Amino acid sequence: MLKYLIEGGNKLNGEVKISGSKNASLPILAASILNPNPVTFYNVPDIEDVNTTLKILKILGCKVTRKCDKITISCKKVNSYEIPKELMNKSRSTVILAGAIIGRLNQVTFSNPGGCNIGKRPIDLHLEAFQKMGITVIKGLNEVKCYSLVGVKGAKIILKFPSVGATENIILASVYASGTTYIYNAAMEPEIVDLAKCLNSMGANIKGAGTSKIIIRGVNKLHSCSYTVMPDRIETGTFLCIAMATKSKLHLKNVNANDLLSVILKLQEMGAKIAIKDNEIFINASSEKIKAINIITKPYPGFPTDMQPIFASLLTKASGKSKIEETIFENRFGFCDELRKMNAKIVKNGNSIQITGVRELTPSRVKCLDLRAGAALVLAALSTTGVTEIDNVEHILRGYENLDEKLRKIGANIKLISD
Ligand code: EPZ
Repeated sequence: MLKYLIEGGNKLNGEVKISGSKNASLPILAASILNPNPVTFYNVPDIEDVNTTLKILKILGCKVTRKCDKITISCKKVNSYEIPKELMNKSRSTVILAGAIIGRLNQVTFSNPGGCNIGKRPIDLHLEAFQKMGITVIKGLNEVKCYSLVGVKGAKIILKFPSVGATENIILASVYASGTTYIYNAAMEPEIVDLAKCLNSMGANIKGAGTSKIIIRGVNKLHSCSYTVMPDRIETGTFLCIAMATKSKLHLKNVNANDLLSVILKLQEMGAKIAIKDNEIFINASSEKIKAINIITKPYPGFPTDMQPIFASLLTKASGKSKIEETIFENRFGFCDELRKMNAKIVKNGNSIQITGVRELTPSRVKCLDLRAGAALVLAALSTTGVTEIDNVEHILRGYENLDEKLRKIGANIKLISD
């Protein structure tokens, strides 16, 4: 078990280099399965979810070499269509490998994906879409088998909800499909655009990514490519919130502010002074009082659910009452119990919480329940005078690259220790 010991209260100052996006890297790594030629990706973060995906790729027969943020993958021959169960349940994004494997081999077998426990997270939309594409889906108790004897066929797919994972799975499964695939009510997240750009740089024919209608015309082959993964917009948002909570001045590098407008607008509403220049963001929150605000999470370009726990933590220090409504996941308020151990005033009512700001939180012993819940606790601890102990930080290591090291560099007192 790993834990953070954080002595909070320090003002932070300096530069933070934002890493490549977790949620873009994972489908992009999956995309390499489709390509028999070597592909090279840059700006891939060194996080546990990436490590899990790479382990699966190796088991499937891909050759992987890695040097810092550069990963080269060669999937000349894919030897297996089965995703091992013990790796499948380490992360949610493993389910996206299914689309890539079926796209390459016309069959795949996998078990239920793992990942953050923030709701039921069924995969019905993924499987219904596969069926529309002529894929037979057999659901067992612990296993799903998908195959198509005649190959994947283009189809018109209307998603009931703009699911990020289902949109990615359909794109991956349809790159080599016969005919054209149309996705209506597609997810519009920047990570979808990044996946489509990466696949197009290999020779795929995908149009409309970033809008609600994506068109994929099947191609016969892909070629080598090198591609740089987009910056992590949730890590960027996390550091902006940390600056605000600790009344600090930070300069974030390697960011794309356009992907984060809903978050920046909310921070400005709370009183943050933010300046954007090319791929850099400057935040100066040194003299700001935090104003209470209301938030409703929505699919992109709305306010991202992944920032919700981190904003909730920040709003525990606002003057007045704030309300957050969570509309994407039905169980993403578990972290509130942990924040209450630090004397946060949060009342839950259905899919909303009301937060009444307090002058100071109290240091305590708390535990991470999932990735962003963990980041919410780190923010709370950094802004609280005294030592907070955060257990189960393995969740954080799944998705934030060197978070403790990056925080130490800007003046935080944080130690990663094993229990
Ligand atoms: C992706 O998860 C992200 N994960 C999540 O980030 C993010 O919170 C989420 O999109 C929403 O933005 C990755 O990219 C690896 P969805 P995903 O399918 O694809 C329901 C983080 O902290 N749904 O858009 O799993 C589902 O239950 C993580 O980095 C179905 O009902 O999200 C949820 O309520 C956490 N049936 C909603 O849709 C389905 O078949 C959105 O899920 C699929 C989804």
